Amino acid sequence: MSSSTSNHRHSAPPHPAAPLTPYGNRPMVTPIVHAVNYEYLNFEVLRQITDGEVDGYTYHRDDNPTVRAVEKSIAALEKAEDCVVCTSGMAACTLVYLSYLRAGGHLILFHDIYGAHYKVSLILERLGVEVSWVNAADWRTLSDHIRPNTQMIFMETPSNPLCKTVDIAQVRQMADTVGARLVVDNTFATPYHQHPLELGAHLVVHSATKALGGHNDLMAGAIAGSKEDYDTLWFTRQAIGTTLDAYSASLLERGLKTFPLRAERMADNAMAVATHLAQCPGISNLHYPGLPTDEGHAISVRQLHHGFGGMMAFDVGQTQEDAKRFISALTTIRHAVSLGSTESLICIPFLTTMLYMPPERRTSFGVRPNSVRLSVGIEPQDDLVADIDQALRQIGNHP
Ligand SMILES: Cc1ncc(COP(=O)(O)O)c(C=O)c1O
Repeated sequence: MSSSTSNHRHSAPPHPAAPLTPYGNRPMVTPIVHAVNYEYLNFEVLRQITDGEVDGYTYHRDDNPTVRAVEKSIAALEKAEDCVVCTSGMAACTLVYLSYLRAGGHLILFHDIYGAHYKVSLILERLGVEVSWVNAADWRTLSDHIRPNTQMIFMETPSNPLCKTVDIAQVRQMADTVGARLVVDNTFATPYHQHPLELGAHLVVHSATKALGGHNDLMAGAIAGSKEDYDTLWFTRQAIGTTLDAYSASLLERGLKTFPLRAERMADNAMAVATHLAQCPGISNLHYPGLPTDEGHAISVRQLHHGFGGMMAFDVGQTQEDAKRFISALTTIRHAVSLGSTESLICIPFLTTMLYMPPERRTSFGVRPNSVRLSVGIEPQDDLVADIDQALRQIGNHP
């Protein structure tokens, strides 16, 4: 339904998957269409596709049926009208910035977002965008940072990596005072627990590399919103060429089939692990939105459903060496970046996800050199608790 010659994305619904056999059977799985280009039946069909009158495919950078199927599934999960899928979470965030920010405009970013935004912010500043950074814990005073030219507020809740909770509806009210667009990265919460669009966000972005894919085997990004936003974002994706490949789209479709089951299990496991960690000597500054003692618990109870997600952060011992020894002693929980996968993953943000930032910035919003981020997977709960206990014992921090 689009072509590389068109400037405009039309949102006609895709045809149902075509029957593949003489009996009219349909495949249970969306076929992986590897074709880069598609043969036109005739010039009239070319015109119809280009004008958006019929649903059709012409060139992979424009669109692909395997990718389109997964976009529809993610739109449904996020209760959005439509969705654009692209090559990575950071590609999705950058598509959003390039589509809606203008030179002379102002962007507010929370410190507590994925570290790579810092690098993107340097690029945006080179293009004439003003950028301000706010601690997510100070979201109530966000109005003080809003300027007449503020075009966008970009946030995560629960935040990365300290799982601070921000009230999406209230931030939207603040954004509305100057007509700014509110964008929420829902990677930590996932659409199983949180629907930012219903709470007032204009757009939701995802690193689909994480819980939506769920198996550490694909990289993808997604942006969900209105049909109008779909057209705007599609224009940018088609222009710069960040369309996801069909094989990754198929892996993502497969991941989405078990996403609710995995999300439910991750949240159950995380609640058990956090409750246990709260009683462990040597563990401090534990942040998990599901704990009644957590600063953001009251907001989380309003914003999150069916549990509180699989992400948490805490400090181990007193020094980074303590955190390193703890992580090295774990066996079930794996030492790796990324999150939201079947395996539990742990890392020291100071040494990994925040490496993109200058060192002085890494500690400016509560992350310490010995803070760890834990993404709880779907392993048996007892195995996770036992792993934590034996690792703490090994470093001499547990009876
Ligand atoms: C919350 C969050 N958003 C976005 C990203 C970027 O995603 P990707 O690595 O798929 O580019 C990450 C990566 O870790 C992330 O944790």
